[in-house]
Amino acid sequence: MMSVEDVHTYYGPSHVLHGIDLLLEKGDVISVMGRNGAGKTTLMRTIMGLTPARQGTVGFDGRDITRLKPHDIFRLGIRLVPQGRNVFPKLTVEENLRLALVAQKSADPRSELEKAYDRFPILGQRRQQKVKGLSGGERQMLAIARGLLGKTRILLMDEPSEGLAPLIIRELHDTILEIKTEDITIFLAEQNVKMALSVCDRHYILEKGEIRFTGTTEEMSANKDIMIQTLGVSA
Ligand SMILES: Nc1ncnc2c1ncn2[C@@H]1O[C@H](COP(=O)(O)OP(=O)(O)O)[C@@H](O)[C@H]1O
Ligand SMILES: [Mg+2]
Repeated sequence: MMSVEDVHTYYGPSHVLHGIDLLLEKGDVISVMGRNGAGKTTLMRTIMGLTPARQGTVGFDGRDITRLKPHDIFRLGIRLVPQGRNVFPKLTVEENLRLALVAQKSADPRSELEKAYDRFPILGQRRQQKVKGLSGGERQMLAIARGLLGKTRILLMDEPSEGLAPLIIRELHDTILEIKTEDITIFLAEQNVKMALSVCDRHYILEKGEIRFTGTTEEMSANKDIMIQTLGVSA
């Protein structure tokens, strides 16, 4: 469904991604793990066309999307839930969702809002509240709800568990598994290894802009040395 082939990405002269290859199949939940600075966010920005690859290709449904503008990539159903949520604190929950719907001329706002509130009842209860009064977990739900408006085919989630309490991470875990049942492909950047291993089918470990390891959850769990070396987790 999506392929990333030999992708090199730079910020000015600084070479950050060094020949990344990955494959995301329809309905998969795939993680990319790696320490701070490994290049996870840059990889997601590259897929979204926000920091396009200088070399290599990003393909989607057999089409080369490497040089498409972010809004055209968005229109194909590829959505990013950015690191740090990036919701508007001074606007209400509903205003945040409506604002995101403006970008999607084809979506019916009323039914899209209903869908979002069905999925996250707490957002429905808080629809008229300003986002700055929401908890970290509720903001993350809002960011995810926003990413699922309209016809989402691939959801990129950049460290959604960051800064959340264990109980909320548990909820996030369930939310991701629920999204998976809707045939939406999920690509999850995580430093929380436990979370990634429990929710994803397949994993990539990124180190200094290169893929160091790829495998299923089973293969990953059998390869503790790799995780200790690249992620700094203890056995
Ligand atoms: N806007 C930027 N300009 C220059 N360098 C950047 C920028 N954003 C990130 N970097 C660098 O790119 C590397 C990868 O960063 P990033 O993709 O944010 O990693 P991660 O998300 O895995 O923590 C780091 O060395 C970081 O300092
Ligand atoms: Mg990051």
